[in-house]
Amino acid sequence: MRPHPSLQRQHRPANTGRRWLALCALLLTTACTDRQTPSDDPWSRSGELIAMSGGEAGARYACATCHGVRGEGNGFDAPRLAGLPAGYLQKQMEDYAAGLRPHEVMRDVARFLDSHERVRVANHYAALPPQAVAPATEETIDAATPALYARACQQCHGVEGVGTANGPPLNAQPAFYLSQQLQDWQRSKRRNDGNHVMLEVAQRLDAGEVRQLGLYLARIPPRPAIADR
Ligand code: HEC
Ligand code: HEC
Repeated sequence: MRPHPSLQRQHRPANTGRRWLALCALLLTTACTDRQTPSDDPWSRSGELIAMSGGEAGARYACATCHGVRGEGNGFDAPRLAGLPAGYLQKQMEDYAAGLRPHEVMRDVARFLDSHERVRVANHYAALPPQAVAPATEETIDAATPALYARACQQCHGVEGVGTANGPPLNAQPAFYLSQQLQDWQRSKRRNDGNHVMLEVAQRLDAGEVRQLGLYLARIPPRPAIADR
């Protein structure tokens, strides 16, 4: 088992300065009650600070490293976060931490944040303008794929995948990422959907359809989500 990130921190000299400052801020707030409270001192981790620096967890867990400085994702396995509904983002962080959505990296990332920090970082990304890495366009999308989407997915994920109150946005997510999620449901690896709705949907798709739906949705431009969930 890998040691918890907090145990590794002592080996990271880059963090020493920040830890000292955080400690000084803490001593000041406990020494004098009329000083800043921890929640409004500059070292309390705002969502943006967590996104850019990884907060206490250190740069390895800075969201921007994998999800891009504008939350646009990496165009491959790390999804865009910019403009996704805050409630959805926060739920995913809880599910990673609880193991309902198993993923080694995201489990460690999520477990390092407390529930307030998960809310703050979710709100930060939800408030960013929707952005995505431009998808590759070499592969052809079958003429039947938009109709398959409309028949099997649109009811919950909205017209052109912009999301509804019953399902998150899928548009402008990387094709690889989308297909991977569908495969994870097919294998019952991702289990965080209420009533196993996505498990049932995914198990009705064949490998070609999984791939096609990913390609189709990845090419729909990012735009503001319709509703929070
Ligand atoms: C080392 C790379 C890495 C770092 C750092 C990282 N992520 Fe992730 N993140 C990923 C990958 C890869 C996935 C897709 C995992 C999967 O398949 O479930 C992901 C998925 C997510 C999802 C699910 C989004 C969706 O559409 O369902 C959320 C939310 C998320 N990350 C938030 C964060 C936040 C917030 C941080 C910083 C505190 C962060 N991530 C740091 C790589 C990373
Ligand atoms: C009855 C409603 C419903 C239908 C129909 C449905 N979905 Fe979903 N889908 C959901 C819900 C709810 C979630 C979010 C689960 C969670 O909380 O993680 C989801 C999540 C997803 C995700 C993960 C998004 C992410 O950012 O990680 C993908 C991919 C997805 N659905 C694809 C599809 C596709 C493709 C179809 C059609 C073949 C489809 N869904 C049909 C309800 C639905």
